Amino acid sequence: LAGGVLWWGVLSSRLDFEAVENRLTELVAQKRRAGVAILDLTQSNPTRVGLSYPPGWEHAPANPGARVYAPEPRGLLVARRAVADYYAERGVAADPDHVVLCASTSEAYGMLFKLLCDPGDSVLAPRPSYPLLEPIAALEGVRLERYPLRFDGSWHIDPDEVRSRLDPLAKAIVFVNPNNPTGSYLKRHELEPLEELALRHGLALIADEVFSEYAVRTDPARVPVLAASSRVPAVSLGGLSKLAGLPQVKVAWILVGGPPAERDRILGGLDHVSDTYLSCSGPMQHALPSLLDLRRSVGAQIASRTGENRACLAELGADVLADEGGWCAVLRLADGTDDEAFALDLLAGQDVLIHPGYLYDFSETGFVVVSLLPPPSVFREGIARFLRAATGS
Ligand SMILES: Cc1ncc(COP(=O)(O)O)c(C=O)c1O
Repeated sequence: LAGGVLWWGVLSSRLDFEAVENRLTELVAQKRRAGVAILDLTQSNPTRVGLSYPPGWEHAPANPGARVYAPEPRGLLVARRAVADYYAERGVAADPDHVVLCASTSEAYGMLFKLLCDPGDSVLAPRPSYPLLEPIAALEGVRLERYPLRFDGSWHIDPDEVRSRLDPLAKAIVFVNPNNPTGSYLKRHELEPLEELALRHGLALIADEVFSEYAVRTDPARVPVLAASSRVPAVSLGGLSKLAGLPQVKVAWILVGGPPAERDRILGGLDHVSDTYLSCSGPMQHALPSLLDLRRSVGAQIASRTGENRACLAELGADVLADEGGWCAVLRLADGTDDEAFALDLLAGQDVLIHPGYLYDFSETGFVVVSLLPPPSVFREGIARFLRAATGS
């Protein structure tokens, strides 16, 4: 191979991630090897928290229609109609022709970044927020610029701070509605100036609405389904993962909205991206009408579980940042406490696993995140130990 290029070991810069040594993960592995029972307050996998799923639900994909391969870039009409019916039940008119199916919301982000961005372009996203946004953007060659969510008793987006993060290569603004982990919803008065900004700079709006059904209470100030009401090109992301507690099924969707001409250009572009991969499984598309129905049983259990665990936090007197929904709670540590060091000590000394806030890119230290999905007995004991450690009692 004299003179050849040494290609192995030279991976693309999309994979240039700082190898962050996660001491928490190492300690978890060490404890598990030693047979220690950990109270896992980071568990957010709905299939592992003791929820009851209707017997036989997994047979839904055994549909005779699924024997034939009928590739459709947007997905089978029977499945897109089921998504439109779901929105109709929420009082939102959605045309099945404006729905594009895919395998997951993560994939939906990837499709949208391919659609809207050239390599090196940027997308604005909230901070703190969903940790997967960074690697998804990096894999598409897209820069993620972060606009802050500010907390002053409730969480806010300041449109001026979004504006100040815009650069000439910005192509979209992402809202996570409600956000993970802050549980805060996008409000109409926050959206209005951002729509103006989008109009002026030719930006698309992307709303990740996977947790939208898990509100603590209703609030007319919220934007419920962005794509259904936006004055600018906008998409809403949803999926079975959170809505019906079925992350393993791998069905999600993009609802496209905005002015008709731009909406149709986006749909045409998504047809091309989607047709290249055709990743949403046929049997699952045939099963979607009945799988979506699981939101009534499994989704309802999740809502009641998160409610019970929220009540437990209040009863035990934890210092919780006020939230409006979602599957997480953000807890505040005493001033000056390092979140990573605290989480490590809690695991080492109390066998309780929580997430330090830095994993979600909190701009300050001193915040930790717990999932509200664990069984209430595990949650209660874990929080009791957490509070003993946090208060030194
Ligand atoms: C905000 C947010 N969006 C999307 C997802 C993932 O959804 P999916 O399983 O459809 O990729 C998660 C998972 O935790 C999430 O927190």
